[in-house]
Amino acid sequence: MSKPAPSGIERILFTEEQIRSRIGEVAAEISERYRGRHLKLIAVLKGSVFFLTALAREIDIPVKIDFLAISSFGSQKAGGGVVRISKDLDDMIQDEDVLLVEDIVDTGLTARYLLQTLAGRGPNSISICTLLDRTSRRIVQVPVEFRCFEIPDRFVVGFGLDYRQLYRNLDYIAVMNPEKAGS
Ligand code: PRP
Repeated sequence: MSKPAPSGIERILFTEEQIRSRIGEVAAEISERYRGRHLKLIAVLKGSVFFLTALAREIDIPVKIDFLAISSFGSQKAGGGVVRISKDLDDMIQDEDVLLVEDIVDTGLTARYLLQTLAGRGPNSISICTLLDRTSRRIVQVPVEFRCFEIPDRFVVGFGLDYRQLYRNLDYIAVMNPEKAGS
């Protein structure tokens, strides 16, 4: 049974069927790119977990998974904030092919910080795969190797993305108006 739409939802951007179909296409691209190798998928908590599990199931080469979490201080969205790792990876990534899995790349500050930090640990390669790309809000340029969807400059929830930690479990991705969302 489908879940009732939360108040504040304005329109559905991508249905579950569209999301899963597109994830299948991107997983096929990833499988071809890394064919013959093992791939380590690294998800950035928390939003990326939903995308990571859906993506990993569609990739047809052997994958390992690991997780990290970051915290930001100050006005990161304005470009002046500081990001640090608050939960590090369990395992080393030296000589591994690493795919950083994000639910959304927005300003690019998180992705740039993680790319720079993880590149210093000696992986064989490191690339970014994101479910959503909101390029209109970029502050710093980052190479996004694999993307499922480009989205407009609107607030979105679902499939891992939250409003005040809620609505990550929606099967679809929707535009939300926070002013009409209640508390
Ligand atoms: C989101 C997303 C990225 C970051 C992208 O995480 O998962 O990590 O923001 O934004 P940026 O490109 O502007 O740096 P969020 O802080 O919402 O945490 P969450 O995954 O726990 O919801």
